[in-house]
This record gives sequence, C-alpha cells and structure tokens, in this order.
Amino acid sequence: MVPTDAALRFVGEATWTALSGRPIATSVWQQSHEVPHVRLGQQADLILVVPATADLLARATHGIASDLLTNVLLTARCPVLLAPAMHTEMWQHPATAANVSRLRERGIVVLEPDTGRLTGTDSGPGRLPDPVQIVNAAADLLRRRPSSDLAGLRIAISGGGTRESWDPVRYLGNRSSGRQAVALARTAVSRGAEVTLVAAAMDVPAPAGVRVLRVEAAAQLEQAMVDLLPVSEVIVMAAAVADYRPEQAAPSKVKKEDAGDEVVLRLTQTSDVLARLCRMRAGRRPLIVGFAAETAGSSRELQRLAAAKLARKGCDLLVANDVGADAVFGSQENAVMILAPDGSTVEVPRSGKDAIADAIWDHVVLGLAGA
Ligand SMILES: Cc1cc2nc3c(=O)[nH]c(=O)nc-3n(C[C@H](O)[C@H](O)[C@H](O)COP(=O)(O)O)c2cc1C
Repeated sequence: MVPTDAALRFVGEATWTALSGRPIATSVWQQSHEVPHVRLGQQADLILVVPATADLLARATHGIASDLLTNVLLTARCPVLLAPAMHTEMWQHPATAANVSRLRERGIVVLEPDTGRLTGTDSGPGRLPDPVQIVNAAADLLRRRPSSDLAGLRIAISGGGTRESWDPVRYLGNRSSGRQAVALARTAVSRGAEVTLVAAAMDVPAPAGVRVLRVEAAAQLEQAMVDLLPVSEVIVMAAAVADYRPEQAAPSKVKKEDAGDEVVLRLTQTSDVLARLCRMRAGRRPLIVGFAAETAGSSRELQRLAAAKLARKGCDLLVANDVGADAVFGSQENAVMILAPDGSTVEVPRSGKDAIADAIWDHVVLGLAGA
C-alpha cells in the first residue's frame, strides 16, 4: 500500500500498516536504501489507485513524480487501474476530462465513476465505483496479464501517416492516427518484446518502454524499416504510407501572388515498402505483417481484396479492415480480418485496438512456431 500524504489525513497510518501488515511510506526519502520508488513499480503485477483523485490523475498524466505513488506509476510496466472519485464539477472539468483521455490512450484503465451521493448533500457523477466493479476490473486485467510469449524478440512496428511535402510548409497527408500501431507497441512490450516504433505523424503519444524513431515522408519511413530488417525477428507495417507524393517539392513557400489561382501538383508513385521488405529478407525471417485498409463494403469483398494483396506483397500475415464502413481512423475501436498465406482467415469482431493488437500477436506467435 502506498498512500499519498493527503490519503494519510483521511485514514491514519496505524490503519494502513495494521491492515496491510507492512510499514507504509509516502515519500521516496523513506527507506531509500531499498530504492522503493523503482522497486515497487518494477515488481508489481498490477497497480490499483483507489480512489484516484483529480490531483493524482493530473500528476499521472504529466509524469510528475512528486511522491512515492507517482514514482511507482512511472516505473511500472504492469497494468494500471485507476478508480476515480471526486465531485461532479472536478470530474467534468475539461482539465480532468483531457487527463483521463490521455491516460486511456496510454493503456491505463480509468474506470468511469458511479453516479450517486457524493460528499455533503451533493449527488451526481463522480462517486467511487462500486468495490465489486473495481475488483472485477482488476481480475480482468490480471487474466489478460502480460505473458512473455514475445520475450527476446526484436519487433519493428511502423505507425501513423506519412507526410509528403510540396513546399517547406505544406504537405499531403492522410487520416491515420497511429492508435493501432501504438496499441501494437504497448501490447508487444507487455508480452516481453523489445520494440522499435517507426512513428510517422501520430495523434497519440508513443507508449513507455518503446524505442521511437520519428519519420515524416514515405522515403524516410522506408529507409528506417530497411535498416531495421536485419535486426528484427518481426516487422509490422501498420503505418499509412503515402502511395503518391508530389513529383517535385518547391524549395521555398509557394506564394499566392506568384502562383495565381491554381496550383497543379503532379504526383508520382512512392516505393512499395511492404513488398520491398518482403523481397529483401532471406527466407521467412523476419516474419512480416502487413495491413490493408480497404473500402470494401462487405466482409466477402474485404477478404477477396486482402487475399489478393497478401499474395501480391508476399507477407506472412495480412491484417485487413474496412475503412469505408465505419470511422476506423482515429477511433478507439476496430474490426479486422487476419489472413495467412495458407488461405486461413480469422475475423476479429469490433473491439478495442489493444484487443485487436493482442489477436495479431497471437497469430504472430503461431506463425513463428510454425515456420
Ligand atoms: C474533505 C475533503 C474531501 C475531498 N475529496 C476529494 C475527492 O473525493 N476527490 C478528489 O479528487 N479530491 C478530493 N479532495 C481534494 C484532495 O484531497 C486534494 O486535491 C489533495 O491534494 C489530493 O492529494 P493526492 O492526490 O496526493 O491524494 C478532498 C479534500 C477534502 C478536504
């Protein structure tokens, strides 16, 4: 148990130590010979913060390590579950809402508070979730607990959308948010892999514990992936790489006074990174996973398009999704089909991007064992 100083004003130290049977500390300066600010986070299988105050949510979001609890949160590589409790005004404040969504993007589970009686005579959203609900959520997290089936594997993942400049300030881009790649990186780390994320433009921060290489254009992303090929056991091409780029980029900003009413951009095809990586490798290593975003309309058509793409590119697994049917880009959820060269197809129903990522890793593990 790691109370904050404020928590000790509500529940006294004697109660904490008597219930846990252990001494407690709130500060990194207590029992510092045991380096508790690092050890506790490293050794934990699950961290629960109950109740999580508005203040704790803010400190956790910004990586502030001002007491033992927030140090533990920064050193943890295990699942983290936060059960908020606060007045409705605090819960609904834009600052708290933004903090909660940033924490969730990082894979931290922030439960929705209950609605009901609060301190004083108030009532509304913000009440601590029912303890049974907290315990169930914790048990769920432990069940999906990181395994180590990817331990020792070096995995390179590309994510986000490339940007192709047509002058020093303007580019052609796409709607990829990078969320699926970030979910892949986070889940791979929790399954023991050593992950390099080649990140084009992304709306979400990279997860902790991942080496990040920032790139902008398709050509830079291609070079980064080519460099990683010989030092990776698995490559996942989840980035939305431009198929076309402006044939020429102006060396200085194109001005309206000079260019007039119309600017004509001639586009030229970029290189096919996935196909190139598949051709470059010797034998079947690294195992290569491709993504196909199609506007198929039906699951049968999606399967047909994806199977053709898999054969054309020569990769080991192809993850296909229908980007026409729903807003996949930027969404927290996705529904995919995972195809293998032997014709087998598994449909993963609409679920969170972490669950999709875990399903992809399950297939990667099978693929590595089979080859
Ligand atoms: C009686 C009382 C009740 C409080 N209840 C809450 C609460 O339910 N949720 C919350 O976020 N802050 C609440 N606060 C404010 C926090 O105690 C304060 O923000 C504190 O600095 C949080 O510290 P901690 O996050 O380190 O525990 C309360 C304060 C008092 C005095």
